Amino acid sequence: MTEHRDFLAIPDFSTDELEGLLRLARRMQRGEYRARPLEGMAFAMLFMKSSTRTRVSFEVGAWQLGAHPIFLTPRDVQLGRGEAVNDTARVLDRMVDGMMIRTFAHADVEEFARYSAVPVINGLTDLQHPCQILADLLTVQQHLGTLRRKRVAWIGDGNNMANSWCDAALMLDFDLVLACPAGYDPDPAILARAQATGRVTLVRDPRAAAEGADVVTTDVWASMGQEEEQAVRAVSFREFRVDEALMARARPEAIFLHCLPAHRGEEVTPGVIDGPRSRVWDEAENRLHVQKAIMAVLIGGERLD
Ligand code: CP
Ligand code: NVA
Repeated sequence: MTEHRDFLAIPDFSTDELEGLLRLARRMQRGEYRARPLEGMAFAMLFMKSSTRTRVSFEVGAWQLGAHPIFLTPRDVQLGRGEAVNDTARVLDRMVDGMMIRTFAHADVEEFARYSAVPVINGLTDLQHPCQILADLLTVQQHLGTLRRKRVAWIGDGNNMANSWCDAALMLDFDLVLACPAGYDPDPAILARAQATGRVTLVRDPRAAAEGADVVTTDVWASMGQEEEQAVRAVSFREFRVDEALMARARPEAIFLHCLPAHRGEEVTPGVIDGPRSRVWDEAENRLHVQKAIMAVLIGGERLD
């Protein structure tokens, strides 16, 4: 196996590298980056779960950087018929220059990366959604100027998004307050590691989390793979809806983020997600810019300044 770097979770990059990646993504966002470091390469995208934003941003991004993207799902590939994860990794890496995977168990992505000789990027697991958090960080910088000392309020499930927010707070200088119902906390190890910074707090009252926040963000109550828990979760999360009253507790210039897809009337009201403080469309667009930055660096050898 040859030397390569993967991006499975935010701490796979150092703080300096994360800041450099965001600067590179910002150049891409402004149209200042025209290089094609993936010219002549192939990029495999393996989706064991549905996707709109991740699929299109990686596919368009790979193409813009010069690579040929290949979209694979369990309906098409033998992984869906039980071929081993590590066999799939060892075959794909003979033909492509980089891969992105979206799946259920985080351990499967780790196994893929262990067996692959080319870079592997995590496009979401049950545990982590690091590419989305980079897009969210870029959106905060874009609209609030800086992340430094900002207060981010996470409202709702301690899910893959919440875990990756905890990792981001571990690496970068901002405060994170999570309001999760009892029984729906983030991953204990990820939370404990982030809390050790002193900048991450877990509360039970969404109003306490939103108080004075610069960013209010949430996600669906039942993630992909948890559809059968929807009814139970709807009861547990009923006080964890981001509505106009909750936003009123945040700072006057506070923005609202949501990784999408959203369920209007559940975790967020239409008045908030479609309202003047919502930045969810820029956030979705920013997936393209950060995906390109990650691929350019890991696969194309682009240097970070
Ligand atoms: N936010 C996000 O990852 O969206 P998709 O599920 O559509 O890729
Ligand atoms: N937490 C959500 C994020 C979707 C982009 C899920 O895993 O389904």
